[in-house]
Amino acid sequence: MLIKSAEFVCSNTHVDKLPDPTLPEYAFIGRSNVGKSSLINALTNKKGLAKTSQKPGKTQLINHFIINDTWYLVDLPGYGYAQTSKKNRSEWEKFIRKYLLSRENLQCIFVLIDSRLEPQKIDLDFCCWLGEKGLPFMLIFTKADKQSIVKSDQNMAKFKRALLKWFEEVPTRFLTSSEEKVGLDPILEKIDAINLDFMVPPVS
Ligand code: GTP
Ligand code: MG
Repeated sequence: MLIKSAEFVCSNTHVDKLPDPTLPEYAFIGRSNVGKSSLINALTNKKGLAKTSQKPGKTQLINHFIINDTWYLVDLPGYGYAQTSKKNRSEWEKFIRKYLLSRENLQCIFVLIDSRLEPQKIDLDFCCWLGEKGLPFMLIFTKADKQSIVKSDQNMAKFKRALLKWFEEVPTRFLTSSEEKVGLDPILEKIDAINLDFMVPPVS
């Protein structure tokens, strides 16, 4: 898919203020600092579209971007940010989980995983929660440029094995580097294919 336009639409903490759910939507979620915002910028080839930072906890809101005037990419705050207070963490839980559970045009949740790390409980727990709720998700392993392909493959295989304890099938997986713009086309192709099947949800 060719990205012809990518524009910021709005930032929200309230699910009832989100754009009308008339276009297919894809959300990026994962641990703080895993590279969600960087990946949005790499996919759209627009540096600075989503705000990135070396420090975790940069993205705090539900940020909508409209792509080619036909679908939404959503940048979400990260989970597992140690510096956040308990109260903030439970606020995150509430509004992100509410968003994920109630957004009827949400076609797929892309869960980002740091390819340098062994499977982390927090990521596995989150995937299990998505599975329990029946929410469609795929895995995007990030920061592949930071180590050898062998190491990335090993960590991806370990993650797959860990998920197979709970899931019968492992979700689709992608290995990417936003820094080196690697592994991006397969994600856009997948989104393109899902967009073709999108039907406007009935008004509730
Ligand atoms: P929060 O908004 O805090 O949850 O973080 P985030 O997941 O949006 O991460 P962000 O995109 O802000 O990136 C965090 C840091 O990782 C930044 O310093 C990025 O430059 C770096 N980073 C992101 N992706 C890559 C990558 O593919 N390769 C390398 N080397 N660094 C990356
Ligand atoms: Mg971010």
